[in-house]
Amino acid sequence: MFPLLLLLSFVSAASAWTSLADWGSGNVTTSVGDSGQCLCHVYLPDTTFPASRVEHMQQVTKDLILEVNIQITTIDRYSGKMVTFLSELKNLTIKVASLESNPDNYIKLDFELLRIELREFEALVTQLKDSLNVTSPIFDSLYDEIRNMTLIVNQLESYDKSNLEVIRIEFAKLQKKLEDCQREEDNINPDIGNCKHEGIVGLSKPTVIQLNANLLSSYQYGGWGKDSKPARGYESMYWYSGYTSPSVYNFYLYSDYDKLILRSSFKHHDLTEGWEGTGNNYIVHGNVIYYQHNTPFSMTKLNLTSAKYDYRVIPEAAQKFSYSYSTGQNMDFAADENGLWVIYATEESKGKLVVAKIDEPTFGIEEAWSTSAYKQLVGNAFMVCGVMYATRSVALNTEEIFYSYDTKSGQERQLSIPFEKFQEKYFNLDYNPSDQKLYMYNAGYYVSYNVKFN
Ligand SMILES: *[C@@H]1O[C@H](CO)[C@@H](O)[C@H](O)[C@H]1NC(C)=O
Ligand SMILES: *[C@@H]1O[C@H](CO)[C@@H](O)[C@H](O)[C@H]1NC(C)=O
Ligand SMILES: *[C@@H]1O[C@H](CO)[C@@H](O)[C@H](O)[C@H]1NC(C)=O
Ligand SMILES: *[C@@H]1O[C@H](CO)[C@@H](O)[C@H](O)[C@H]1NC(C)=O
Ligand SMILES: *[C@@H]1O[C@H](CO)[C@@H](O)[C@H](O)[C@H]1NC(C)=O
Repeated sequence: MFPLLLLLSFVSAASAWTSLADWGSGNVTTSVGDSGQCLCHVYLPDTTFPASRVEHMQQVTKDLILEVNIQITTIDRYSGKMVTFLSELKNLTIKVASLESNPDNYIKLDFELLRIELREFEALVTQLKDSLNVTSPIFDSLYDEIRNMTLIVNQLESYDKSNLEVIRIEFAKLQKKLEDCQREEDNINPDIGNCKHEGIVGLSKPTVIQLNANLLSSYQYGGWGKDSKPARGYESMYWYSGYTSPSVYNFYLYSDYDKLILRSSFKHHDLTEGWEGTGNNYIVHGNVIYYQHNTPFSMTKLNLTSAKYDYRVIPEAAQKFSYSYSTGQNMDFAADENGLWVIYATEESKGKLVVAKIDEPTFGIEEAWSTSAYKQLVGNAFMVCGVMYATRSVALNTEEIFYSYDTKSGQERQLSIPFEKFQEKYFNLDYNPSDQKLYMYNAGYYVSYNVKFN
């Protein structure tokens, strides 16, 4: 629509010049009249015919037509691009539908990217305005139209943003269906809670659920997931915490998956001053959040039922060693079929991981095992059936489980179980024994994996 406006106006301007030239005139000036109208002053020379000046003006006109045509082509290309974006969005929705038949399909929900491209479109229009740097009043109306075009584009942009929101919600609904589908699968899966297997042999492709509830990709640090031992009535609960730094200030609780997607929390816990955490390696277990707290450096819990805090210092745990993707990750909480765990490193272990079992009633360490995985080389760690699994980076979009330590037998294994990641860094990775899935907070995005056992 908008390139057409521009074209029509230019054609009328150009034909005005052409008809003047046809007259055989040489001296033409333009100005703006008192009431803002465009005035053309034509001087007809009575002696020599100024052919060279006419030619020059015709050349200038041609150049301008060329320039405007180039700009029109550029705009056409961009408006064509927008049509493609919309088509891509539609295709995304179709992709989700196909996910229902195959939950292992890898989907990227990149609305952020679409928004950026829409903004680029707006910038291009501004650039176009600047590049048509003509001072003649005839072209002022062109400027006007270009300004109007920018407004139209802005309207288009906001229109498309609301469209994006609608599509996002549609997308979420489809995702919900997928989740229900997987839950059905889980319900008939007799292996939940069962440790009669010989460990992990593979992970599915990641399911990228969506950007965090703050809708900010700058909220790189955080975590999300489900309670690993839900209290009665809280079986469908999801939790989320995110921030721009490793500091931990608050937790959001959602009654079910729908509410998580709609970002409609039933509870928002702002951690009481003095009880703020760090490191983002928390876990929710038995309606209690376990996290690291630095004053004093301790493992801390917030009981969501009673809203009470408590902490225990682990004297051996060192604040000096963190995982490779973030600072401050000194204590990593995990839960599996056997209960609650905390993973840290000590001066005595020289930075190698130590796995400790937490006794829930007393909130003390029951037993601890030393492993040979250097914490600083590890991306994150989690527990499954009493076995600790450690991950590390292979490439920008590939991670691998490279090491396991079995607390029952003391056996350790070098592994190479690669898995895809959506973004390079992640700050929370935990297994959930209630659905046998891995939950990852992948630099702002909610990601999950199905786990395949031997
Ligand atoms: C055009 O007309 C103006 C006004 O009479 C005059 O000053 C100027 O010299 C003319 N230019 C040419 C190229 O004839
Ligand atoms: C959308 O999907 C259709 C059919 O698979 C395909 O022809 C088209 O190129 C896709 N469009 C985009 C923008 O990916
Ligand atoms: C616009 O035109 C004016 C006058 O011809 C010139 O001084 C200025 O540098 C031009 N600006 C750009 C961005 O081309
Ligand atoms: C620009 O938009 C304004 C307000 O809609 C309108 O009055 C004006 O005529 C438009 N200008 C052009 C050149 O289309
Ligand atoms: C949490 O608080 C509830 C209610 O006071 C209590 O019954 C439960 O044992 C507490 N859980 C933990 C792990 O502290």
